Amino acid sequence: MTRKPIIAGNWKMNKNYGEAVVLAQAISNRLEKDWLDRVDVIVCPPFIDLKPVKTVFEFDRMNVELGAQNVHWEEAGAFTGEISVGMLKNVGCAFCIVGHSERRTLMGETNEEVNKKAKALIAANMKPIICVGESLAVREAETHEEFVCAQVKAAFAGIPAAQAKSCVVAYEPIWAIGTGRTATPEQAEAMCVAIRQTLAELYDATVAEGMRILYGGSMNPGNVEMLTAQPNIDGGLIGGASLEADSFVDLIKACL
Ligand code: PGA
Repeated sequence: MTRKPIIAGNWKMNKNYGEAVVLAQAISNRLEKDWLDRVDVIVCPPFIDLKPVKTVFEFDRMNVELGAQNVHWEEAGAFTGEISVGMLKNVGCAFCIVGHSERRTLMGETNEEVNKKAKALIAANMKPIICVGESLAVREAETHEEFVCAQVKAAFAGIPAAQAKSCVVAYEPIWAIGTGRTATPEQAEAMCVAIRQTLAELYDATVAEGMRILYGGSMNPGNVEMLTAQPNIDGGLIGGASLEADSFVDLIKACL
């Protein structure tokens, strides 16, 4: 089964409105339209940059997808500071990151919340990018596979196979995020295999084989080829290297 690779840029809390437009335009200028038939490119800017970034790619007729970095599961109401699925859809988001380790660690996001967010996105035909990953302490205790597979099971609880298919999983070891310390291709592949096996247990082998699993954590143009050469790594969720057009586009080119 051949899966279309994904390169997703997680801009995190970087780029104000003007900077976001400049970066989106620089990415667009460097892309060839037909590359996007071979690799799905997603950018995930801060909420207030979503619309202007979408406008840049739309104007250039560049089929770059838009993703948000978080969402609330309720439709509307008294949830000060939150953004709904409908609002994201309305500005043209097709994807949304859920359960990023920074949100789990800094904002206390739980497995149950990740599951509620994923379900709310799916109900609106949006595609969650479900992040999982272990801390250094968990890896050193050698319980990382168990830990990450439990996160996967919790995130997919109650999600039927037909809908799970459209979800993306991103394996991001916390010790590799923003640290310059990348998991070795073997470590990343071993975990992506374990995640795919978990998905096969939850659904079946065909569903699991069709789903895309990304690696994230200090992925850059220097290590992308070794990582994406692994049979179970279908692309990357990239933080730091997505903030410059040249490095982001180099990552895309490596997946062609
Ligand atoms: P990084 O971030 O590429 O800067 O390590 C990845 C992520 O957190 O998604």
